[in-house]
Amino acid sequence: MEDILKELEARREKAKLGGGQKRIESQHSKGKLTARERINLLLDEESFEEYDMFVEHDSHEFGMEKNKIPGDGVVIGSGEINGRTVFLYVKDFTVFGGSLSLAHSRKINKIQDMAVKNNAPLIGVLDAGGARIQEGIDALGGYAEVFQRNVLASGVIPQISLIMGPCAGGDVYSPALTDFIFMVRDTSYMFVTGPDVVKTVTNEEVTADQLGGAEVHTTKSSVADGAYDNDIEMISEMRRFIDFLPSSNISEVLIRETSDDIKRSEPSLDTLIPANSNSPYDIKEFITKVVDEGDFFEIQENFAQNIVVGFGRVDGHTVGLIGNQPLFLAGVLDSDASRKGARFVRFCDAFSIPLVTLVDVPGFLPGTDQEYGGLIKNGAKLLYAYAEATVPKVTVITRKAYGGAYCVMAPKHLRGDINYALPSAEIAVMGAKGAVEILYRKDIEDTKKIQEHTEFYEDRLLNPFVAAERGYIDDVIMPRNIRPRIGNALKLLRNKKLSNPWKKHDNLPL
Ligand code: HXC
Repeated sequence: MEDILKELEARREKAKLGGGQKRIESQHSKGKLTARERINLLLDEESFEEYDMFVEHDSHEFGMEKNKIPGDGVVIGSGEINGRTVFLYVKDFTVFGGSLSLAHSRKINKIQDMAVKNNAPLIGVLDAGGARIQEGIDALGGYAEVFQRNVLASGVIPQISLIMGPCAGGDVYSPALTDFIFMVRDTSYMFVTGPDVVKTVTNEEVTADQLGGAEVHTTKSSVADGAYDNDIEMISEMRRFIDFLPSSNISEVLIRETSDDIKRSEPSLDTLIPANSNSPYDIKEFITKVVDEGDFFEIQENFAQNIVVGFGRVDGHTVGLIGNQPLFLAGVLDSDASRKGARFVRFCDAFSIPLVTLVDVPGFLPGTDQEYGGLIKNGAKLLYAYAEATVPKVTVITRKAYGGAYCVMAPKHLRGDINYALPSAEIAVMGAKGAVEILYRKDIEDTKKIQEHTEFYEDRLLNPFVAAERGYIDDVIMPRNIRPRIGNALKLLRNKKLSNPWKKHDNLPL
């Protein structure tokens, strides 16, 4: 018996060393932690339960039968983050570069299945060289098995991908099918084909970072939802992030005790919106003053900054916040902002997270660039997302709500539940200048008349009362009371029941 125990211990120690001390040092020299160090930091102390530690590949090509490392390049298991169960797979770059073999893919499949069966989030940590070259088609099939499970798990459990090293070829599509992707600056990159292939095919010379680094994916492609300076910062932010999410689409809403009074009023908000409606202000000030303790987790902070999306809590309950941002492009809706907003709204709806929308939008961005880029379809995505959402929807129009953008940003007409406006709201088909130039084209040379028409239009239409008179706005509220009013609205809506007609699935304008 003693011998068996010793052997078990020896086998465990061997598996824990992965590709060996030299490769561990090489991993550290690149500024990266090892798979096991990452797990230790991510999970609550001593909560990790590892499975399949002794799994090896079954490849016989290229001398691989003599080259086996227990675990085969991925560590899988379950654990807890702040007391809640998560399942995870973490690629071990020290073992065959974390590349995916059939045995490796089966380990990932096992943990995907367990996560879905047990209604708990799945976290994948990517740091790998793609398909195990020696395995050929078996590796490709293995990837497809992972992708299939990602798709079936979508909308059932939150799936989060952490890119903490190379992520190329087959490795990119699993993260792309998950809900959120976060990257580490300088040490991680994602691309379908690497710089060498790019050079061969297009004659373009780029570095890995220029092609698919964190900067590229958080500012240009929008593939990633956030980036951090190093492994430790990312992992500690992920421990914070996961607390905002429910464990699955059937899990109870998380409630975090807060000492932040739901009745807290914020007099400073009464003067935040400038008198001149063309002057900007920061919508994030509203957001951080609405949420408990100012704790706001922003998604895609550096992409399409004309719309702000992210998670916060109101009275302890998680909410998804969406706000047009007057600081960037006057908060206009363009293709990027529409796609960003739509994806966020759909995530929240899938996981029963109420939506709080703050509206200050002058309309959709005009121009050939936008029209050629499919603004019609992209704008429709946001419209579609709000219209299909059945979660509680609370909307506050802080200033402009013009034209089609009014229709899109969670108005009463898209089953908005409680819709408020601030006294500074301007709800109209368009701004005064554009409207007067169309209605009074004959007077265009007469500055005095144009001025009179503009003043009349502003007085008559650019206020919240026309909409309030028709019941499209439930109340006009003081900016200082935005937190208590939203808090009360969400409380009233906690037992909301609404469902859409049966369908196999929808046909979102992709
Ligand atoms: C087998 C691999 C591997 C792979 C790396 N290794 N990638 N083994 N299959 N795909 C091994 C290396 O042989 C090496 O083993 C160890 O991992 C570390 O690799 P290095 O090259 O020394 O590390 P580094 O210099 O940091 O470069 C990392 C890298 C590079 C950029 C990821 O290894 C690389 O370009 N790998 C190949 C990437 C690739 O083309 N993959 C196939 C994609 S096609 P030793 O024993 O020396 O430590 C694909 C198709 C699937 O994925 C499509 C499905 C949809």
